[in-house]
Amino acid sequence: MPPQRPLKTLERVLSKAGLGSRTEARSWIGAGRVRVNGTVVRTPDRWVDLERDRVTLDGQPVRGAKKVYLLLYKPKRYITTYTDPQGRPTVYDLVRDAGVWLVPVGRLDLDTTGLLIMTNDTEFAERLTNPEYKVPKTYHAKCADRLSDEQIARLANGVELSDGPTRPAVVARLRDSGKYTHLEIVIREGRNRQVRRMVEAIGSKVIELVRVAIGPVRIGDLPIGKWRHLTETEVRALAGRSSAGVPSGPGLRSRDP
Ligand code: URA
Repeated sequence: MPPQRPLKTLERVLSKAGLGSRTEARSWIGAGRVRVNGTVVRTPDRWVDLERDRVTLDGQPVRGAKKVYLLLYKPKRYITTYTDPQGRPTVYDLVRDAGVWLVPVGRLDLDTTGLLIMTNDTEFAERLTNPEYKVPKTYHAKCADRLSDEQIARLANGVELSDGPTRPAVVARLRDSGKYTHLEIVIREGRNRQVRRMVEAIGSKVIELVRVAIGPVRIGDLPIGKWRHLTETEVRALAGRSSAGVPSGPGLRSRDP
């Protein structure tokens, strides 16, 4: 059994302090740049208590970082990872000015745009991505065909995917235009390419996908490629299961393609 909090492993203390990723923290520890109570420690999984132990990196004291929660409007062609071997732009390129180390809460595909929460609060991030927590995510999808009511009902009832059936979703036709149908889809799971695969399962294809809300947090007027801090109320609503509901009413502006 690992010890109870406030003990954390040394690599976690460094990454949680907003200094870098856990991989970077391990390399600093391995390089002998980290001391605990004055002694160089080279084991990343050494348990430390920041309230009691004095941890330094290159002689500078490490303290718990202030919690930061950002909402980014991810554009197309940005990848949701820290580095990309192919050198493509990443969401980190867009939040560098935040000045702290952040992790994305879940992922958006390369060609999906819309809301991405980034935070240095890894417990918050883990909870929000846990399928048991069931935070609703609202997407606007432009489909390559005009869908029948029957196809939309199948999406809502749950479709069979290669990794199992999807849970019931809330699906509404926003409009038909030309040969396309625009849908609003609210899902509480976060499987890989889930919305795209759901639409493929009913015989069509998503050609544009925007995440317009996460729980009660909406895209609003945030310009594409920009970020803002979440308000305290938004953080509380996302962290508290009861109020992490689906936004409704005229406040939810359509940002569908
Ligand atoms: N569903 C998808 O298909 N892609 C995303 O990026 C998010 C949800």
